[in-house]
Amino acid sequence: EAGELGTDMGWEVYAVGGFVRDILLGRPNLDLDLVVEGDGIAFARRFAAKLGGRVKAHSKFKTAVVILDDGQRVDVATARLEYYEYPAALPTVELSSIKMDLYRRDFTVNALALRINPGRYGQLVDFFGAERDIRNKTIRVLHSLSFVEDPTRILRAIRFERRFDFQIGGQTMRLIKNALSLKLFSKLSGTRVMHELQLIMNEEDPLACLLRMQELGIMEAIHPLLSLDKERVQILTELVKVHNWYKLLYLEPPVVPWKLYLLGMTMGIKRDQIDQVTGRLHFTRREERDFFQLRDQIGEALMKLMGWKEGRSRLSRLYKILHPLPVEGILFLMARSRKEYIRRNISQYLARLQYVEIEVNGKDLKNIGIEPGPIYAIILDKLMTAKIDGRAETRHEQLNLAK
Ligand code: CTP
Repeated sequence: EAGELGTDMGWEVYAVGGFVRDILLGRPNLDLDLVVEGDGIAFARRFAAKLGGRVKAHSKFKTAVVILDDGQRVDVATARLEYYEYPAALPTVELSSIKMDLYRRDFTVNALALRINPGRYGQLVDFFGAERDIRNKTIRVLHSLSFVEDPTRILRAIRFERRFDFQIGGQTMRLIKNALSLKLFSKLSGTRVMHELQLIMNEEDPLACLLRMQELGIMEAIHPLLSLDKERVQILTELVKVHNWYKLLYLEPPVVPWKLYLLGMTMGIKRDQIDQVTGRLHFTRREERDFFQLRDQIGEALMKLMGWKEGRSRLSRLYKILHPLPVEGILFLMARSRKEYIRRNISQYLARLQYVEIEVNGKDLKNIGIEPGPIYAIILDKLMTAKIDGRAETRHEQLNLAK
């Protein structure tokens, strides 16, 4: 449809970037990026009208996002057609602007385009040897200033390398080391570093990326306190396992990967130093407060868990330890615990305990003649404890207990 519309409007349209790369790799990718040799915003408007959807346009960048009615997002960018006048009687040449568009990108594997106009549909446009690099499993930059222009590409290189099990090419690796020795990382804003870290934590195997970063001295370059020692590697290994286990079994509540892994990356950093890290990563006041609070809560919960044993009336104690924590905190405790029975009971909490509800409410308490007041919270809490410990499972038993 997009190709036909392009031809109707007289413009070449290409699918580009990760979408094309993933087709060649045989991996699923639902994020379609289009480049139009013409007016991308006008194209996006017609496209949305034709298929049913909304458009968000950024006229400054000549880009638009089409959100189709089925939820599918299509990013549309403009590649300007540029005409160069040659002196003397030579003809005006039209420079292929898709080439310029692709040349500005990070790696050859991301600098592929696929023609989608009818008649040329499916033709691969590969100016920089991307197909060969994909075959050889190599991450390669397009030019030697790539990392100087944008040092976050160093983290992107590592992320793609580990995700696809590729190798960063020799010259590209030299350019990375050169960029690091020029301390380009220290010039990067905390917000941008944090954004890239978050993308890394969203990967299937974040630890592989973090280890590669450590090997290249990037952890230190971000902040010396983030250097991965043996203890942190160990906890991060457990966190990956626990996280994968959780993803396999549960959809709710969802885990925010960076919150989970940042706990592991900052393990052992003292209270009076941790703000150096959150400061470097440009946390907002609020993010900082939430993160410190989570670390404190975990510390407290760890102390309590050390004294926790299985047995009668014990499940409600566990409930009280875990209930104030967000899911990232609970998974962290699971990863930290060496004792099998603690892991097993935390798993019980996630599967069942956290959802326990009692069959009695304030109205019921009023009906049995208890005067409303702060006492209600205490009674309801006691009933919850009783239910969790199996002492008052039914409404009848709970009402009796309340009396
Ligand atoms: N890009 C770039 N430099 C950056 C970020 C992005 O050149 N610092 C280019 C890349 O060539 C990429 C395109 O912009 O193909 C879109 O970026 P993004 O959506 O992050 O890349 P994907 O390849 O789609 O990555 P992912 O598979 O992780 O979604």
